[in-house]
Amino acid sequence: MTDVESFKAGMRQLTAGVCLVTTQAADGSRSGLTATAVCSVSAEPPILLVCVNRDNGNYAAIRAAGRFAVNVLAAEDEDLSNRFASAVSGDERFHHGDWGTLASGVPVLASALASFDCTLLEVKDMGSHGVFFGQVEAVKVRSGDAPPLLYGDGSYGTLKFL
Ligand SMILES: Cc1cc2nc3c(=O)[nH]c(=O)nc-3n(C[C@H](O)[C@H](O)[C@H](O)COP(=O)(O)O)c2cc1C
Repeated sequence: MTDVESFKAGMRQLTAGVCLVTTQAADGSRSGLTATAVCSVSAEPPILLVCVNRDNGNYAAIRAAGRFAVNVLAAEDEDLSNRFASAVSGDERFHHGDWGTLASGVPVLASALASFDCTLLEVKDMGSHGVFFGQVEAVKVRSGDAPPLLYGDGSYGTLKFL
C-alpha cells in the first residue's frame, strides 16, 4: 500500500469541478462544505455520491439531516469555495451568496451551474471518509453558459468550451 503523501500527490493531478454540499438540520441551522469528491452513480434511478471526511462537522450534520444538496460552482464563485473550506463555520458560511431551496428545503445556491436536491439513501464509511449516496429528488440547472470552477494541482481554474 502506498503512503498518504504519494496518494495525495497523484490525486492533485485529478482536476475536478468544485461543489458546495449543503444541508439543513431539523432546527433550521444550515451547514455545508466545499467538495470535489462528487460523482454520478446511477441515472435510473438518479443517484449521486459525495465523500465527506469523517472528522468534518458536516459528516455528522448530513447524516443527522438525512438530506443534502450538491451545488456545482461557476468560476465566479471561487470566493464561496474558499469560504466553505475556511475557518468560517456553520450558518455564517451562508452569509454570502444568494440562497434558496428546492424540494427538500436544504440550501440551494442561485448562481450554481446546477443544484441537486437529495435524500440520503445510505452512508458507507470508507477509511477517513464517509461515502454519502443521495437519491436526487430535484435538479435546477442555471441557464446561460457561465464557465465552471475547476480545482487541480492546488489551484483554481476554469474551462472554455469550444
Ligand atoms: C477545492 C476543495 C475541495 C475539497 N473537497 C473535499 C471533499 O471532497 N470532501 C471533504 O470532506 N472535504 C473537502 N474539502 C475540504 C473541506 O471543504 C473543508 O475541510 C471544510 O472546512 C469542512 O467543513 P466542516 O469541517 O465544517 O465540515 C475540500 C476543500 C477544497 C478547498
